[in-house]
Amino acid sequence: MLDFLGTRQRTATCGQLRAADAGQTVTLMGWVNRRRDHGSLIFLDLRDRYGITQVVLDKDLAPEGHAKAEQARPEYVVAAIGKVRLRGADAVNPKMPTGEIEIAVDELLLLNDSKVPPFSPAEEAIANEEVRLKYRYLDLRRAEMAHNLEVRHKVALAVRQYLDAQGFYEVETPFLTRSTPEGARDYLVPSRVHPAHFYALPQSPQLFKQILMISGLDKYFQIVRCFRDEDLRADRQPEFTQIDLEMTFPQQETIFGIVEGFLAAAFAAVGITLPSPFPRITYDEAMRRYGIDKPDLRLPGLTDIRSAFTAEQLQTLAVDPALPVVAVRVPKVGDLSRKERDDNRPLFETKKGAKLLDDLRRLERSFPESVAKLRELAQAQPDDLLIIVAGDAATHIAASDTKFEGRLSEREIAVLSAAGNFRVELAKKYADRHGAFAVTDSVVRSPERSSSQIDGSAAFRPLWVTDFPMFEHDPETGRWAPAHHPFTSPHEEDMDRLISDPASVRARYYDLAMNGLELGSGSIRIHRQDVQQQIFRALGMSDDEAKARFGFFLEALQYGTPPHGGIALGLDRLVMILAGASSLREVIAFPKTAKAIDLMVDAPTPVSDGQLKELHIRPSVRN
Ligand code: AMO
Repeated sequence: MLDFLGTRQRTATCGQLRAADAGQTVTLMGWVNRRRDHGSLIFLDLRDRYGITQVVLDKDLAPEGHAKAEQARPEYVVAAIGKVRLRGADAVNPKMPTGEIEIAVDELLLLNDSKVPPFSPAEEAIANEEVRLKYRYLDLRRAEMAHNLEVRHKVALAVRQYLDAQGFYEVETPFLTRSTPEGARDYLVPSRVHPAHFYALPQSPQLFKQILMISGLDKYFQIVRCFRDEDLRADRQPEFTQIDLEMTFPQQETIFGIVEGFLAAAFAAVGITLPSPFPRITYDEAMRRYGIDKPDLRLPGLTDIRSAFTAEQLQTLAVDPALPVVAVRVPKVGDLSRKERDDNRPLFETKKGAKLLDDLRRLERSFPESVAKLRELAQAQPDDLLIIVAGDAATHIAASDTKFEGRLSEREIAVLSAAGNFRVELAKKYADRHGAFAVTDSVVRSPERSSSQIDGSAAFRPLWVTDFPMFEHDPETGRWAPAHHPFTSPHEEDMDRLISDPASVRARYYDLAMNGLELGSGSIRIHRQDVQQQIFRALGMSDDEAKARFGFFLEALQYGTPPHGGIALGLDRLVMILAGASSLREVIAFPKTAKAIDLMVDAPTPVSDGQLKELHIRPSVRN
């Protein structure tokens, strides 16, 4: 038999009461986390978002309540009315914030029962993620998930407050719009009123925010949902949230200052101090030093150790002497067995002509002096794992060797990025063994975070990466593609090479990397219509095609467009880093699986023939 709540009011949460509250009469409401039946004494751990409090039912003092507690099961919803009392010294639980007290219950109400849940929210780790996602409401009862949602809320709020104080207005932009050029596939929405016409859900509010600058809004931001139909990974969801902003008359540094400001505020809101200014590095430098455009600064970089070898030695090793020869150092992993080396090989990309020299002992037998020298160059400690990556002299590759004014050639980039990606894969694989990320975990899980600010300078390593190339060559289409999006301004001094040497043109495009993730991306935009048209042409787009896709924007650019620029950060990724989570699904209340399915509501679904007909759609596949 369930009880009615009547006019009862909750007077305290399950995370609130402390020793100083002893003697008070309270009403707690929550879920039964655990129940321990000691015969005449029954202990219930009551749980809500705020914590857990132990309540005790004594058969002698509250026979009715005790009888109800006998029926109570995990996830039942109950109200407990009673007195706060100190626990006996041997019963104090120092691990629980409420561990010094318990409630001696006079009256217990069973407000609702629960089916036996498929997993217990009282458990810390639940192996089966599909079950978690199907029963997301149970999963969100877990303390860890409640914490992640709290972090997310606090971060978004701190960002809003900071940007408001800087004079930014939050403006909403449409969801039913037309295709935007962020390079993923669009989610399309059919129009009922206009047969065979579709809206696209925005991949980002890029053009709207630029138009708001043309409108004189000066400083815009929006915490906004974006939609991209792309292959999903741990750090990608089909709908995700950006902290999106745009401003008029900025230099790159102006944008950096704003972002550093709101990130400091967001980190402070969850108890972490983030030092500013963030370091800055050019794209070329990032590739040289880390072999990747989103370096994880918690790990050592690459070292070019070509000088440790003579030309003959490189020839013996079938290494191309014109390309970088780099050492990848993974601290504290030590030497690997042959089997471990074999297991790691699939993590290394050989297809673009990079080769792996991973048996340093063997190399040492042939070239002891060179290996001693390269160890020194790479500053390797005796317990570090050291691996060499070089250009394969035996592989013929089509990539171009040309480069411009000290910039990296395609072949150099191929070797460096093979090394850089291998570095990241190894670090991930051996994370537990060498503890590269232990420092982050200890900050994320620090109990002091709530009471005082703790230093996050070693655990969170932001980095601005600037001066990306303007174009990337797309081998499939043979065309140049924008490295960011086609509204990014080239460097003014590189503009005369737009047609003659597009590979050498740098963009005013910057990324914010943190702990190996791309956290944000932005650029100073093109504000002149003639330049915008030139870029479309350089991308192989005819004037007619440009007009068909972006005519409204080319038109708008002609009405006094001010110089402007901006950036968007992934809110989900930011919270994922702050929560120490391994996937975006841990920080989104209702996420989708890697196959873009919402397991709880079961979407997507087929729809009725009637609905399709109304939308003028005839399906080509049926199931
Ligand atoms: P970009 O496409 O680089 O730039 O996106 C900006 C940031 O959004 C996050 N992000 C994602 N997060 C989760 N799931 C996804 N599928 C996903 N895709 C992107 C990343 C990324 O750094 N309009 C431009 C910004 C600008 O130029 O101002 C844009 O959207 O953290």
